[in-house]
Amino acid sequence: MQLTDTRGVKVTITTVPGAIVHTHRGQIPHDSLMGLAEGSITTSTRGIDYLVQRPQLDDYVLGMPRQAAVIYPKDAARIVALGDIGSGSRLLEAGVGSGALTCYLLKAAGATGAVTSVERRSDFAEVARENVTRWFGGIPRSWTLMERDLVEVTDGDIPTGSQDTVILDMLAPWDCLDVADRVLRPGGSLVSYVATTTQLSRLVETMRLSQRWTEPRAEESIVRTWHLDGLAVRPDHRMSGHTGFLVAARHMAPGEKPSPRRRRPAPGAYGEDYQGPGADQVEEGEPG
Ligand SMILES: C[S@@+](CC[C@H](N)C(=O)[O-])C[C@H]1O[C@@H](n2cnc3c(N)ncnc32)[C@H](O)[C@@H]1O
Repeated sequence: MQLTDTRGVKVTITTVPGAIVHTHRGQIPHDSLMGLAEGSITTSTRGIDYLVQRPQLDDYVLGMPRQAAVIYPKDAARIVALGDIGSGSRLLEAGVGSGALTCYLLKAAGATGAVTSVERRSDFAEVARENVTRWFGGIPRSWTLMERDLVEVTDGDIPTGSQDTVILDMLAPWDCLDVADRVLRPGGSLVSYVATTTQLSRLVETMRLSQRWTEPRAEESIVRTWHLDGLAVRPDHRMSGHTGFLVAARHMAPGEKPSPRRRRPAPGAYGEDYQGPGADQVEEGEPG
């Protein structure tokens, strides 16, 4: 349960008969919370009101134990949209890290979906397994967690063309493009989260060179919360300045290549040694 005081400070607990919540602003017996409808108000021993609710997934992922950096809610929402993920989707994600994105993917794909999560570090996989189990109250039947490097995943593990969407969140997603190409169905979506512009550039250029993807699209989401108080309505002073970039593209049919881009590359956008598509059109000069 999530208890929110009148200042907006949140405490999340798992209720246990006979236990007591100790806050800076008094105590609340767990027994007094059990059976309360969500949206009820309870009062601590020091007379402070607390709103009682179940936490939502956004609250949970930001507060759960983590080993690696987690995907933030604003990016998870865009990944679900860019990946065209919904009830019954078949998804492959790697790496799993602490399992934040995994929870969103399992929720979006639902009981009829199938989420395969691949993580090469067993200590991270263990944290993710615990976080997913705590959120869903057990391991969802729709979830398979594989402890290995995605580049080592074989046709026996994940059959060719079996996935609707592949999501890559790792340091070197370009190393895993061949696997994504193999497991995705024609028209399936690839979505990758990268933290830096150098990763963004390398990923996009590797995708273009392979000619297995539609023209990649890149975006970042900037979310600014607002202070709302009478006539004092303005953006909050603090915000999350940068999380990462999302790259998305669709998978080509077997044997098909994307049509050459009609726009000429900007002068200087590619080095002199560039040999990829459109190389014959590259002009020397300053980057455009
Ligand atoms: C930033 S974390 C992922 C965070 C996760 N998406 C979340 O929301 O909690 C990156 C993870 O990718 C894993 N990883 C990196 N390369 C991998 C690969 N080739 N195969 C499988 N896992 C990989 C790392 O061990 C790490 O746990």
